Amino acid sequence: MTTLFPRLRYHAQTVVLFTISDLKTIFFPISVFACATAPLHSAPRLLWGFMWIWMHQLMCNISNQSKGAAEDAINKPWRPLPAGRITEPQATALRWISVGLCAWWSAMYGPDLVLPTLMLFITTFLYDELGLAGHYIGKNFCNIGGYTSLEIGATKIMGASREIDYISTTAVCISGALIFTTIQAQDFADVEGDKQLGRVTLPIYAPEFSRAFTLGALIGWSIFLSWFWHIGPLCAIGFIGMGTFVGLRYYTRRTEAEDRESYVFYNIWLMIVHVLPLNARTGFIRF
Ligand SMILES: *[C@@H]1O[C@H](CO)[C@@H](O)[C@H](O)[C@H]1NC(C)=O
Ligand SMILES: *[C@@H]1O[C@H](CO)[C@@H](O)[C@H](O)[C@H]1NC(C)=O
Repeated sequence: MTTLFPRLRYHAQTVVLFTISDLKTIFFPISVFACATAPLHSAPRLLWGFMWIWMHQLMCNISNQSKGAAEDAINKPWRPLPAGRITEPQATALRWISVGLCAWWSAMYGPDLVLPTLMLFITTFLYDELGLAGHYIGKNFCNIGGYTSLEIGATKIMGASREIDYISTTAVCISGALIFTTIQAQDFADVEGDKQLGRVTLPIYAPEFSRAFTLGALIGWSIFLSWFWHIGPLCAIGFIGMGTFVGLRYYTRRTEAEDRESYVFYNIWLMIVHVLPLNARTGFIRF
């Protein structure tokens, strides 16, 4: 008994460490999206939704990190593999166990939830195993596949009905298009590391254009979404102001540290984007 709990805690920490750096990019935005879009049915559904999202993020992240230990040793030495908390064969085993667990869990809900799990498995397989992560178009498609699968699954679990209605469908499509045109935001800070690994991200392929494009995309999306979700004038000004601020930050401040900070702001903006569909349900953002 005396050693059981410390051990369990140690392993729980290991598992959490796999997911920690992407909580801000995946777990929180997807949770907010599902709560707002579904809209949230009850507290137990919220809990199940959280667990489903986190479990699926874990599945993707173990797959990713059981391959890239060398790359992580430089940038993220605290991750489970480079830190020596888990061996590579163990991580590979855990990877397949997590796939099985996710599939089984979704199957308990029904075939309509197995589909997002399957989609997610396929995108991670293409991304990590077949190396699509190395090129910006492939990377982008995998990102969309990942985001939209998680959004659909989480929305189904959190909502009162398992039907994905018109508002949810529209919100997922918009989110996919938005990710496709703005996700290069995450690559600016990694340009040096990616170059050494021979990757071609959009900021490497077109350094100047990608900055201007990001600025335009952030402003354009902010205006379009304010109009599309009918948010009130004050909120629209605030939201467009935020998009402009993040875009200008990316355009004018270009050191690695500044890009890392800009990415945090981008994620806050993305979080707000994902709340907006709630307005179509409740009309609460009307001032
Ligand atoms: C973690 O998983 C998410 C969801 O698929 C993915 O977008 C992200 O890039 C992954 N990150 C790492 C470091 O594995
Ligand atoms: C893991 O994900 C990161 C971030 O999305 C990506 O840059 C990296 O190439 C992936 N690793 C592998 C082995 O695919």
